[in-house]
Amino acid sequence: MRTVLFVGAGVHQRRAIEQARERGLRVVAVDADPEAAGLAVADAGEVVDFSDVDAVVDVARRHGVDGVLTISADRAVPVVAAVAEALGLPGIGAETAHAMTNKVVMRRRLAELGVPQPRFAAVRSLQEARVARDEVGFPAVLKPADSGGQRGVFRVDSPDDVDRHLHATLAESPTQEAVLEEFVDGLELNGLAAARGGHVTLLTLSDRLRPPGPGFGVGWIHVYPSSLYADALEEAERVAVTAVHALGLRDGVAFPQLIADDDGRVLVVEVAARVPGGQMADLARHAIGVDVVDIALRQALGEEVGDEDVRARFSRPLAIRFLTASPGPLPVGRVRRVGSLERARAATGVLQADVFLTEGEVIRPVHVDADRRGYVIATGPTTVLALEAAETAARLVDVEVEQTADAAV
Ligand SMILES: Nc1ncnc2c1ncn2[C@@H]1O[C@H](COP(=O)(O)OP(=O)(O)O)[C@@H](O)[C@H]1O
Ligand SMILES: [Mg+2]
Repeated sequence: MRTVLFVGAGVHQRRAIEQARERGLRVVAVDADPEAAGLAVADAGEVVDFSDVDAVVDVARRHGVDGVLTISADRAVPVVAAVAEALGLPGIGAETAHAMTNKVVMRRRLAELGVPQPRFAAVRSLQEARVARDEVGFPAVLKPADSGGQRGVFRVDSPDDVDRHLHATLAESPTQEAVLEEFVDGLELNGLAAARGGHVTLLTLSDRLRPPGPGFGVGWIHVYPSSLYADALEEAERVAVTAVHALGLRDGVAFPQLIADDDGRVLVVEVAARVPGGQMADLARHAIGVDVVDIALRQALGEEVGDEDVRARFSRPLAIRFLTASPGPLPVGRVRRVGSLERARAATGVLQADVFLTEGEVIRPVHVDADRRGYVIATGPTTVLALEAAETAARLVDVEVEQTADAAV
């Protein structure tokens, strides 16, 4: 029996771990949190902080693993690449992993190859921030060079904003580095792509809608297919594929994130080298019948991924509505009771729904990815109707809260 190692085993990895086991694989998983949901469903779960690469290599050796991967954890991507190199397993290589997880390195590489992206500058101190803001201008986005999940990401409109937020941004970066970049106003797009032997196939391109306010970077609704059309759509497809090539990914699942502005430009936000979290894998499965988790598992094991594995089996409109507070469907406050999901799951068009809420936790207005506390995925005859179905069902998830002072922003 072949063994695969999952680096990171939280609630977002659990389903993939189960899927690997259903495929007849033995699963070893590591996570720093002994309570991590994925550890419990793996054949062997070890409590290891994956930022300790040697410790993960040691786990991989002891279990004689045949492949290593991560789902949705960006910080695990360089670790996966390092473990694969140490054991001589299939992987994307340390250099590509670095370029696809460090936003400064990524932006420099994309710039060298002329891939369209926002103006940017790297920042390590207030001093450097002064120079950077003159180069970049306002409005801008300040973000950690190497973090994820919208942690430490701020929209900044003035020099004061930069000074105010820089500390919090740098604190989210393990290497104490930030990027200041031009704020691009427009429609955000998420792509899912599979690179095989240096050939990149774009699987899906969907709209990623975001709330107003401080959570401006959180994808709280996904809609497939994208509302872009004609030249803009073609340009988005071209930029997504070009960016994956530019970053050197030859074999792997890629997650290009783009913004299309009103002038017809399509700019790269970032490209991740992994199966994304946030139900993107579910989006591809439900919308076109392609299973990116299965593709990632095969590639980790060095198995052939054929043309038929990346070909759309069908294509149908899809909407994912995340359960977030204000202005999403959830109330703000301390959770007293989470009702059954049955009504939401039985609603028209609903394909899948889940809640991650636990009693006693505090629901706050949406700021970061982690404030998405569940989701509803629905289909319909059109994207508008699919979204309406998802919205309607999301409001059927019954959550009772008590108001608390700490729930305010
Ligand atoms: N230059 C930008 N202009 C406008 N919005 C941006 C820009 N950069 C990031 N964002 C918004 O913030 C989100 C998070 O930024 P991203 O660089 O993808 O960081 P993370 O690694 O946290 O996902 C993006 O998905 C997008 O919605
Ligand atoms: Mg992102």
